[in-house]
Amino acid sequence: MMAEEQRKAGMERELALEFVRITEVGAMAAARLMGRGNRVAAEKAAADAMRAMFSTVQVQARLVVGGGESDEVVVLEPGEEFGTGDPPEVDVAIDPVEGTNLVAKGLPNAICVLAAAPRGCLLQTPDIYMEKIAVGPRAAGAIDLDAPVAVNLREVARALGCSVEDLTVVVLDRPRHENLIREVREAGARIKLISDGDVAPAVAAAIEEGGVDLLLGIGGAPEGLLTAAALKCLGGDMQARMLPRSEQEAALIRRMGLADIRRILRLDDMVRGDDVIFAATGITDGDLLRGVRFSGRGVLTHSVVMRSRTGTVRFIEARHHPAKKPAYGRSPSTSG
Ligand code: FBP
Repeated sequence: MMAEEQRKAGMERELALEFVRITEVGAMAAARLMGRGNRVAAEKAAADAMRAMFSTVQVQARLVVGGGESDEVVVLEPGEEFGTGDPPEVDVAIDPVEGTNLVAKGLPNAICVLAAAPRGCLLQTPDIYMEKIAVGPRAAGAIDLDAPVAVNLREVARALGCSVEDLTVVVLDRPRHENLIREVREAGARIKLISDGDVAPAVAAAIEEGGVDLLLGIGGAPEGLLTAAALKCLGGDMQARMLPRSEQEAALIRRMGLADIRRILRLDDMVRGDDVIFAATGITDGDLLRGVRFSGRGVLTHSVVMRSRTGTVRFIEARHHPAKKPAYGRSPSTSG
């Protein structure tokens, strides 16, 4: 099927469940290595498990955005193909472990995450930095990446029907955010500084009772694309801008088709069309999802899967039986 026909036909909704099965095995594999201090091993284990599960799914998936890079080790190569090779043809963005440091240290908010859309619908973001502002559906249309922080906070508070003092803003705790953090504090909003992993809190901002109202600051562009996929499903809003730090990075952005490399990217620029699926499984406990639990009675996972075409959001709790499905990780009782 030609790419354009494929895009129009869309992805079968059954694929959403298949994608959750893939993030579940990735999360379980990474969670086995929680706290071991080894980011690369956790990411590689998750990627290998995802690749194996993908091989059982009837799809021809091509990786266009991979967050799976740790310490120069690329665990998933852009261009890599997954699935049985049968239609439908889709593009996928995968981060086997979003928050490798979090898993290595056993800290909250690490997730295994995947987004998929018909061919050509996901912006092929290179692994560089991106400025981001992201909010949930009730504040959609109230953000402007170029406006001062205080103005964004005032407009988001107005849209949410609360005061700026009631807002919770998530910001990565980095020296580069010193001014941003000061401006948020001066405006009077509450701040949640995170050490890593800006996808889960941004998605939480778009879910009622997520405990977060907006994400601000500079983080990874692949993570930004994954966030955009989720927000498109949830009716949230996001603006972003690529932040190249060298001529080489600028060239990467031009190569992906952005002539004006510093222009503001909106949701539709990052995720084209209305047919994206987002799936994530918690590795460690977090704002959005509970982490993997291992017990004698099985392995418990907590996932979310959503599809922009229908807007349905499903939270899925699963109990896996390692003895019946070895790919789901050994239970403590069977690990020698
Ligand atoms: P990992 O690649 O180790 O999973 O890092 C995730 C992350 O914390 C993202 O959530 C965030 O967007 C980015 O890294 C921030 O990058 P940096 O650590 O260089 O500030």
